[in-house]
Amino acid sequence: MTSSDSANAVLIEPAAQADWPGILAVLETANMHHIPSPEVPEFDLACAFVARLDGRVVGVAGYKVLSADRAKTTLLAVLPEARRHGIGRLLQEKRMDVLCGMGIKTLSTNSDRPETIAWYEKHFGYVRVGSLPKLHPFGHEGIAEWTTLETDLTRWRKV
Ligand SMILES: CC(C)(COP(=O)(O)OP(=O)(O)OC[C@H]1O[C@@H](n2cnc3c(N)ncnc32)[C@H](O)[C@@H]1OP(=O)(O)O)[C@@H](O)C(=O)NCCC(=O)NCCS
Repeated sequence: MTSSDSANAVLIEPAAQADWPGILAVLETANMHHIPSPEVPEFDLACAFVARLDGRVVGVAGYKVLSADRAKTTLLAVLPEARRHGIGRLLQEKRMDVLCGMGIKTLSTNSDRPETIAWYEKHFGYVRVGSLPKLHPFGHEGIAEWTTLETDLTRWRKV
C-alpha cells in the first residue's frame, strides 16, 4: 500500500464465514490468532467487521455486548503494510458507532502495546482503568499484562 492509497478505497463490512482465513492471517501478524485459547475462547463473526481492500481482508475488529449498557471490544488488527492509512480508525469507529446505536454507554478494551494504548486515548476518548495479567503469550510477546481502557460512547458521539 503506498501513501497515495487512502482509507477511501477500503470497505468496512460485516465479517462473513468465508473471511475467516483472511481474518486469521491478519491476526497472526499481531500474534493474536490463538483462537480458541484461554485468552480468546471464541471469536464471534456475527459481532465483527472486516476491512476489505481489493477483495482482500486487511483488517478486522470485533465486539461483545456484556449488558444493556456495557460492551467490550474483542480483537482489532490491521495488516502491517496497510497500517497508518486510517483503516484501524474506520474499524474502531464502526464498532463504536454500532454499539452506540444499541444503547451501549461504556466500552472497555484491553490493550498491550503502548502505541496502541496511546492511539485509543488520543482518538477515541479512552482512559486507563486498570490492568490484568495475560493468561498466556498473546499479542505483544514482550508485554505480560493487559491495560484496561474505557470510553464513554455517549460522550464520544457528541464530540
Ligand atoms: C492498532 C492498529 C489496529 C491501528 O491500525 P491503523 O490502520 O494503523 O490505524 P490508523 O491508521 O487509523 O491510525 C494509526 C496512526 O496512523 C496515523 N494515520 C492515519 N492515516 C494516516 C495517513 N494517511 N498517513 C499517515 N498517518 C496516518 C494516525 O493518525 C495514527 O497515528 P497517531 O496515533 O499518532 O495519531 C494497528 O496498529 C495494529 O494492528 N496493531 C497491532 C495489533 C494491536 O495492537 N491491536 C489492538 C489490540 S487492542
